[in-house]
Amino acid sequence: MCGIIGYIGDRKACEVIVKGLKRLEYRGYDSAGVVTGDGSSLDIRKGAGRIDDLAKRLRFLDMKGTRGIGHTRWATHGVPNDTNAHPHTDCTGRIVLVHNGIIENFAELREELSRKGHVFRSDTDTEAIAHLIEEELKSSDDFEGAMRRALKKLKGSFALAIVYADEPDRLYFVRNESPLVLGIGNGEMFAASDVPAFLEYTNKVVFLDDGEYAVVTKDSWVVKRLDTGEPVEKEVHEISWTLDMAEKAGFPHFMLKEIYEQPRAIRDAIHGNRETIGRVAREIANYDRVIFVAMGTSYHAAIAGKYLFQKLAKKIPIVEEASEFRYEFEDLIDENTLLIAITQSGETADTLAAMKLAKRRGAKVLAIVNVVGSMATRIADLTIYTHAGPEIGVAATKTYTTQLTVLTMLAIETAAVLGTVPLERLESLRRALLSVPEFVEKVLELDGSLAELAEELKDKRDFFYIGRGIGVPTALEGALKLKEISYIHAEGLSAGELKHGPLALLEDGVPVVAIAPDGRLFDKMVSNIEESKARGAMIIGLSNRGELSKVADVFIQTPDVDELLSPIVYVVPLQLLAYHLSVLRGNDPDKPRNLAKSVTVE
Ligand code: AGP
Repeated sequence: MCGIIGYIGDRKACEVIVKGLKRLEYRGYDSAGVVTGDGSSLDIRKGAGRIDDLAKRLRFLDMKGTRGIGHTRWATHGVPNDTNAHPHTDCTGRIVLVHNGIIENFAELREELSRKGHVFRSDTDTEAIAHLIEEELKSSDDFEGAMRRALKKLKGSFALAIVYADEPDRLYFVRNESPLVLGIGNGEMFAASDVPAFLEYTNKVVFLDDGEYAVVTKDSWVVKRLDTGEPVEKEVHEISWTLDMAEKAGFPHFMLKEIYEQPRAIRDAIHGNRETIGRVAREIANYDRVIFVAMGTSYHAAIAGKYLFQKLAKKIPIVEEASEFRYEFEDLIDENTLLIAITQSGETADTLAAMKLAKRRGAKVLAIVNVVGSMATRIADLTIYTHAGPEIGVAATKTYTTQLTVLTMLAIETAAVLGTVPLERLESLRRALLSVPEFVEKVLELDGSLAELAEELKDKRDFFYIGRGIGVPTALEGALKLKEISYIHAEGLSAGELKHGPLALLEDGVPVVAIAPDGRLFDKMVSNIEESKARGAMIIGLSNRGELSKVADVFIQTPDVDELLSPIVYVVPLQLLAYHLSVLRGNDPDKPRNLAKSVTVE
């Protein structure tokens, strides 16, 4: 759960690395470090804290050299402090590396290496890798061979960038179950955990696969297999994202920019998938057992997907958190199962593990992913991209609404294949979906009044979000957004569940956010709202039916959108409310405490 970057060329490496690290900070931000050098002398600077502060304190930009690597950390082994910050070195200080991932057998390795006389300075799992390579180098001068032999002994996940002082013309990059991509420049080369880190310099990229490493000089690159050392043919991809798309574009935070990008993102999700959806829907139609797996916000999209498939395709999918699925479903999966994994990053460890399990058991795996070339796309038999563009804010926003868009399209087209719903109804849903970006534009106009509402709510201690039917995932997601960036306690639940316990928590002034689109369950929602109001709750009602304003203390008028499309529209005011509350409470919504964008460890 860290970000790594490497550079070799004619520029001042520290400048490229520091800029890249800032763009990777969403992957972790408790400490950072850089190593640069020309020839065989290396300058290593690292410490606890955020890149900007460290760059000043450690004067990163004074570092000399045209090759180097850098790291921004999210701690897994060893507390965030100066010593545990990356890079880490062997005993001689000549093998210097940064790591994203977890070495599961590091304790054994550390013990064995310590017995052989290696001196460890940090508490990290990473440091063992440097000593292990040093140990292997004792039996030959061939660094590349020693590195391969050493890495074969590792269990776990690792993306590595490695500098060896005695080979000043090259850098090594390794990938195993943690993301890593090469950037191919003209007389210069880059590598990073994610493309925006070097997109300013090149849009030509090579995605490394698990068990591969790259040897990179300023003018050349070669990818090889870690087990045999044989070269692998790799394709160079051109990335169509511009750097501007990956930056804040004048918004105070990435999250706000990403909320505002949703109309565009939803349009791209619709148009970018026109051709694939029909083909994938025909596949889905073949399966009786469909299982959605995902985590966090993507899990909420999966719940919405379940409602959509039930309503339209008359299928009853199972929805499981990937972290549960991976340990509980082993015996229940076979070739008659279709697993639909939803993951914006395509790198969530639990979701990848669930996908691998399903593959092992002969199931078909479909991935709904945002990040092109991510691990999930390599495991899956079929991939649908959400086309949201890079999402930097830790809180998922546009990746959620584009997941919902894709799921809606899939449910509509699967219903069309199966003939489960009259064609006119499907046609009207297809047309209505095309209008959703405009509806989202309409709700974005509520931003000012939501900012005022946030002022009124900023000192509240608990929030409840309730919905029914297809409103349930919106309630869950509204609550998740609030807790993850504002640190206010929030619960999302089905409104019917209220009086089975949570009602006891309602007292004067507790905000209850009610998702009440027009539809079969509107009246039931009104009853639940009345129950909450009778206990003194402050009702914040979202509906396209104006009469809710008579019951709600605060009424948020939504556009007239078909109930089945309402999740895409109704979540947007909740994202904005959470955003404003986060800012008013002095938090950084882009980098909530204790969280990271991609959860690449279990
Ligand atoms: C949501 O705001 C969070 N960032 C988190 O719950 C996230 O959705 C979850 O970690 C899953 O990530 P993925 O979509 O990349 O798999």
